[in-house]
Amino acid sequence: MKAKIQEATELLRSSKHTTVFSGAGVSVESGIPTFRGEAGLWEKYDPSLLQIQYFHQYPERSWKLIKELFYDVIERARPNPAHIAVARMEEMGIVKAVITQNIDNLHQEAGSKIVYEFHGTVKRLVCTKCEKYYDSGTIDLSRLPPTCLYCKQSPVSEQGSLLKPDFVFFGEPIPDEARASSFAEANLADTFLVIGTSGEVMPACHIPVLAKQHGAKIIEINPNPSSFSSAITDIFLQGQAGYVMSEIQKDL
Ligand code: OAD
Ligand code: ZN
Repeated sequence: MKAKIQEATELLRSSKHTTVFSGAGVSVESGIPTFRGEAGLWEKYDPSLLQIQYFHQYPERSWKLIKELFYDVIERARPNPAHIAVARMEEMGIVKAVITQNIDNLHQEAGSKIVYEFHGTVKRLVCTKCEKYYDSGTIDLSRLPPTCLYCKQSPVSEQGSLLKPDFVFFGEPIPDEARASSFAEANLADTFLVIGTSGEVMPACHIPVLAKQHGAKIIEINPNPSSFSSAITDIFLQGQAGYVMSEIQKDL
């Protein structure tokens, strides 16, 4: 392992443009569960509960689940050594961007500046009618579902329109800007640092593959092999993100 970490460190030191590509695994050590695997959310919950049609059909039921699975858990979570190492590497000029499939805002909390949130974020809510955005911190989630203050005040609706978390539900498109910026990274990067993702969800999983096709070297950190590991990964660092990233950053 030591030799492999050293190999990765050398590659990163000589890289002109490293892009981080992260998934749920980078936040496990912050106390946030993954989706797949033994302790994953999909072992306990049916993914169809996060379909956009279900949300519109049963907003109250849907919001209760979303609050329990995401808001309550993420509220308590703090960045771990992996998020912090990624942010330091950006300060050092090695990491140029982070593409994350996570909605937990922990890369930003750790200090990362250029973060493309491929699946959106829990930090923002959006009105399903007038499309006004709200910072989730300003919305009371003790009464569900939350509604739009603006729509409530206007004569358009007495009730107020339904607010939706601004993350990507199953059946929704990837936000345009995050999508475009993330795919652009596949052309720009000479090194991709893939941390804690199973690589099973499209279209996100295409990005490291495209980067590889454009000549980028792929470093991967995961305690378990992913769908990338034997297909595109050049250096596989089998371990937990917090430990491996701290070791790498220490040596840079
Ligand atoms: P997954 O749950 O599919 O995969 C999590 C990965 O993290 C697995 O490969 C684990 O082996 C790895 N892992 C576990 N503990 C780790 C640790 N301490 N350090 C590093 N890695 C660790 O999560 P994602 O790949 O992020 O989409 O899933 C992608 C998308 O599927 C999510 O963004 C979500 C879900 O449906 C949406 O919500 C749209
Ligand atoms: Zn509204």
